[in-house]
Amino acid sequence: MNIAVITGASSGMGLQFALKLNSLDKDIDEFWLIARRKKRLEILSRKLGSKTRIFALDLEKTASIEELQKDLKNNNPKIKYLVNAAGFGIIGDVGEYDMRIEAEMLDLNVRGVTLLTNICLKYMSEGSSIFMLASAAAFMPQPGFAVYAASKAYVLSYSRALSNELKKRKINVIAVCPGPVSTEFFKKAEKKHSMAFYKKIFMADARAVVSRAISDSLLRRSVSVYGFGMNIFRFCTKLMPHGFLMKIIKLK
Ligand SMILES: NC(=O)c1ccc[n+]([C@@H]2O[C@H](COP(=O)([O-])OP(=O)(O)OC[C@H]3O[C@@H](n4cnc5c(N)ncnc54)[C@H](OP(=O)(O)O)[C@@H]3O)[C@@H](O)[C@H]2O)c1
Repeated sequence: MNIAVITGASSGMGLQFALKLNSLDKDIDEFWLIARRKKRLEILSRKLGSKTRIFALDLEKTASIEELQKDLKNNNPKIKYLVNAAGFGIIGDVGEYDMRIEAEMLDLNVRGVTLLTNICLKYMSEGSSIFMLASAAAFMPQPGFAVYAASKAYVLSYSRALSNELKKRKINVIAVCPGPVSTEFFKKAEKKHSMAFYKKIFMADARAVVSRAISDSLLRRSVSVYGFGMNIFRFCTKLMPHGFLMKIIKLK
């Protein structure tokens, strides 16, 4: 049985990945949809019109990963796609929020992604693909978004190393690194502060970012960056001193 495991499937890019993979690949026997909001997953399940399993789980908790591990063991599927899309960020300086919020961000963006990938790997084989939702925030430190950017720098580094490790098994791993994308992400991210005005110019459509990520993955790329502006930004972060760029980014 071929399955697609998709976290963050209740909204934004995770949801778009489910819809797009469903329309592109008829060999997926079951979608395993993971997020906390069960009702949202049920709505998506009806839209998919194919077999789905709903896992209303909080991926910040080890117990949730263990539950998934048990289900994988009981079903022994082939994971054709793993989409690690669950994640969140909050704009604000370090220490501005309660330490628990910073811990939750790391538990989901770093720990959750690492543990879930770990338990999925043995069910993947030649032709399987992993999509890791990193961010353009991973390209350099981001004052005012420090913990989030650092968590995504982890995802990018981890993903590129994993991509290299899995080449021999012919499993494709791609780090998806968009700039701002129009999703519910900003409801939480802008709790206290708005995104810098100049970043809004680069706001992308979730469907377009996901389509680009899937076509980049088919081309066996290990990083997908949507849009001309973000590709220029990535180039600058490779070329220019990050100290200088951080001064510019502070202009908010
Ligand atoms: N939007 C952007 O500008 C942007 C840019 C670059 C990268 N990204 C990254 O792209 C990924 C998807 O973000 P998005 O823009 O699609 O945001 P989104 O619409 O807010 O979706 C986030 C998803 O994560 C799930 N989630 C959040 N906390 C969770 C938890 N504790 N346990 C399980 N699931 C949880 C949410 O579902 P529930 O609330 O139902 O649990 C939701 O389905 C994230 O990793 C984000 O960091 C976003």
